[in-house]
Amino acid sequence: MEFTYFLPLISLCITFSCFNLLRRRRRSPTPGPYPFPIIGNIHQLGPKPHQSLTSLSKIHGPLMHLKLGTIHAVIISSPELAREILQRHDQSFPGRMATAATKALRHHLFSVACLPAGSQWRLLRRLCREEMFSPPRLDAGRKLRRRNLQKLLGYVEKCCDDRKSVDVNEAAFVTSLNLISNTLFSVDFADYGEGSSQELKGIVHGLMRVLGSFNVADYFPIVGVFDPQGIERDAGRYMGRLMAVFDGIIDRRKESPEKKDDLLEALLSREKESELSRDDIKHLLLDLFVAGTETTSGTVEWIMTELMRNPCILSKANSELQSILGQNKALLEESDISKLPYLQAVVKETFRLHPPGAFISRQKDGDEAEIGGHVVPGNAVVLVNIWGIGRDSRIWGNPDEFEPERFLNENIVMDVKGQDFELIPFGAGRRICPGQALAHRMVHVMVGALVHNFDWKVENDGMKLNGEEVDVSEKFGLSLQKALPLKAMPIKLYDREGY
Ligand code: HEM
Repeated sequence: MEFTYFLPLISLCITFSCFNLLRRRRRSPTPGPYPFPIIGNIHQLGPKPHQSLTSLSKIHGPLMHLKLGTIHAVIISSPELAREILQRHDQSFPGRMATAATKALRHHLFSVACLPAGSQWRLLRRLCREEMFSPPRLDAGRKLRRRNLQKLLGYVEKCCDDRKSVDVNEAAFVTSLNLISNTLFSVDFADYGEGSSQELKGIVHGLMRVLGSFNVADYFPIVGVFDPQGIERDAGRYMGRLMAVFDGIIDRRKESPEKKDDLLEALLSREKESELSRDDIKHLLLDLFVAGTETTSGTVEWIMTELMRNPCILSKANSELQSILGQNKALLEESDISKLPYLQAVVKETFRLHPPGAFISRQKDGDEAEIGGHVVPGNAVVLVNIWGIGRDSRIWGNPDEFEPERFLNENIVMDVKGQDFELIPFGAGRRICPGQALAHRMVHVMVGALVHNFDWKVENDGMKLNGEEVDVSEKFGLSLQKALPLKAMPIKLYDREGY
């Protein structure tokens, strides 16, 4: 009696298991290198994981699985699969893995870059879109940014007069920091010379260094409690110092009767309406600095490096600028960018070879999924290797050469706004970089000003280097930087009275 009762249930279970087994058989096992016990494949990452993973993907294919300590990582190396993850299955990959460093001061609970795509994240994205990055908002900050560019040119001119070389990374970093701090709260954050502003520059540099460090606690969360490398502690110190600076700026703003047309003013009005807390505001400001400064300055440094390696391209870019600005106008206006297709092609080509974020990262929402015929584990971290895609010879002719002309070819009408998955330096899908419109303006006007007003010579210990001798080795961190900072001697092209 009991048996007949259970018989239908048992046969249902057997059918279900067979069905599942067959389904699994049809899905081939996810390819990838064999993992060692405990460490998995960590030893295969090396100091330049973007390069090691590109080499591994040539063996294991465009979707491969690695075990990094306790973490399941899935590496994507083709535009088609990048589209699957970032656009088609966007909903199932809602967040990013919070690293131990981002947990300092509970930053990951407030951060637009760390929060999963829920209601708080949507609110922060909407504020960024409406109050900071919309065209009218960006236009409102033009004057302040123009003043920052004049300062950059003044600094480079002084280096010319003193016959001193310019540390292009440092100059671009200070300029980016100020362009962003002015867009956020109408204040200069740093200076090119010595002085008290060096402290702020040091804090932002230090924070980026710790956030980009390899941390064993990220791969073995059980040791995270001990913070063995002190990374969470250091991140907390830098964040705390930056938060204190923000507190000072917010307090002064609240006491001032003058109203400013910037992001902080808009955020404080939301605080009044209790839509945001002071912590929300400070963590958002921190995110915007961290996400926006090094990416922008690093891009400017790579562009200048490639231009100095390729004097013919530098001279073409210069001729185009001259034809639009003439000899008398020193500064490129943001509204001039659309008239400079060659400069835009130079920027795109730099993004292809040197994307500041080598990987776009996502975390699976907890449910196993099937992508490209392979299983992606439920809690996997997915890394789209855009550095590898940018150098893939199946996509690009002469992939290692710097050839901006490829983007002038009418057959390659490609932008960087997240629709052409062969080139996604700003990511794609709903987590695409919210600051791309500001970055687009900053990068073009900085490079435009440096190229239009000066010729450049790269020297090493006083010896002039030929183009091909200019170093292009990379350093992996929070963003992909040049290993050796570019130092170059500027030569004034026109005699003008100041900028
Ligand atoms: C050349 C400059 C820049 C590059 C190449 C760049 C690139 C990126 C990339 C690849 C992402 C990840 C997108 C994704 O996961 O799909 C990102 C996210 C982000 N970027 Fe940018 N970025 C730049 C400048 C900026 C600037 C100037 C700001 C703001 C001032 C900014 C703010 C952010 C923020 C807040 C996020 C996190 C968005 C989220 O998770 O919802 N970025 N950026």
